[in-house]
Amino acid sequence: MTAPVRILTGITTSGTPHLGNYAGAIRPAIAASRQPGTESFYFLADYHALIKAQDPARVQRSTLEIAATWLACGLDPDRVWFYRQSDIPEIPELAWFLACVAGKGLLNRAHAYKAAVDANVAAGEDPDAGVSVGLYLYPVLMAADILAFRAQKVPVGRDQIQHIEMARDFAARFNYLYGGLHDLMRRVGDESQKFIVHEAKQLLVLPEAVIEEQVATLPGLDGRKMSKSYDNTIPLFAPPAQLKKLIASIVTDSRLPGEPKDPDASHLFTLYRAFASEAQAAGMHAALRGGLSWGEAKQALFELLDGHLAPLREKYEALMAKPAEIEATLQAGAAKARAIATPLLRELRAAVGLRPLTAAMVEAPKPKAAKAAQPSFKQYRESDGRFYFKLVHADGRVLVQSEGHASPKEAGALVARLKAEGAALVHEAGKGLHLAGVLVGRLEDGIELAEVLESLAAFAGDAA
Ligand code: TRP
Repeated sequence: MTAPVRILTGITTSGTPHLGNYAGAIRPAIAASRQPGTESFYFLADYHALIKAQDPARVQRSTLEIAATWLACGLDPDRVWFYRQSDIPEIPELAWFLACVAGKGLLNRAHAYKAAVDANVAAGEDPDAGVSVGLYLYPVLMAADILAFRAQKVPVGRDQIQHIEMARDFAARFNYLYGGLHDLMRRVGDESQKFIVHEAKQLLVLPEAVIEEQVATLPGLDGRKMSKSYDNTIPLFAPPAQLKKLIASIVTDSRLPGEPKDPDASHLFTLYRAFASEAQAAGMHAALRGGLSWGEAKQALFELLDGHLAPLREKYEALMAKPAEIEATLQAGAAKARAIATPLLRELRAAVGLRPLTAAMVEAPKPKAAKAAQPSFKQYRESDGRFYFKLVHADGRVLVQSEGHASPKEAGALVARLKAEGAALVHEAGKGLHLAGVLVGRLEDGIELAEVLESLAAFAGDAA
């Protein structure tokens, strides 16, 4: 039997879940949690919520609603790890360890922070006006969420890829700095503390983003993507009367009853299809082409949705009426989650040197000076199937991001050329980095060509 794959999902505890969240995130995630060979971790990211929401009653209410929603929709807490971030003190502890190895320059380039700075600059304000350190450290806290459980896969939308890359960065840097010591301790065998030694050679596991390409996005009432920011949502657990009223307000064209309608151009039909069986969808498709009135189609959509949602709504309401039960579920989930995080953090504390003074003094590992000066190339495959590499500075910053290549061999050949003849690298604004006429890739934001050349120089003399 192969070891199960550990998958971790963070659930933002803000807002009221709507049909779009259900079809696009909740329903597929719960289906995934039933896959054999997986260990699924779902947690309510309430520490993250504090970055945006500073209304305590709302923070609490939202956590309750979102927990009740996931449970009502079928998440099985006995089968998965379902917990609240703020019940796991190991997460903020790890976040601090990571903050101490995370490059500030890297965090400067985080999308959310950069967007806030850009908006300030555009408004003629101080670049950091209104930006909290919490927002700035968002990627560090998120990395701790993932690394505290040695999660291997993190399903995310495209907007979160950068965060996963940063988590990999911090983890790699942490392993680099402390892995040697860790290995040494394992050999010395410290009797005064029971270190749990993992099979894996690394202290922290480098997570991978799993990009959800065909996530269903549902249209909202006005046909644009269903989203709170467009105010066009159907709340998942709207009572039937409200559901009916909202469905009645779905925008359609002005074709009259009896006139043939084009289902494929109708977002009412798109909504219908997201919840219908194939036979039901085919039936509705034919009926609309045959002249079914919009009023009748809306009634059919109401019946379909209500039929689907009524049992969930009933469970949701029962759960909402018993917050103590949800609390108990979350407490049990926290205990189950901490059974993993507590021993890991014990090990990490020891690795960084936070240990009882009575513990056998472990000699410092060999000075890393020579090694620390080494930049590196990281090769990897993206979800587009192509092969990429990055040039990473000795201090962990990414300097160069390559173009995609058809094969690892092709990417590797270019890396070899860069090592051998990197001094010939040229940069043209807007056109990227070229080596003897070959497009290599691009400089990361804020990186100068000089830094790249300096790092490449470290490879000169390496056997090609
Ligand atoms: N940042 C994620 C979002 O906005 C939520 C999140 C917090 C998360 N911590 C996480 C997602 C850890 C995956 C893993 O959706």
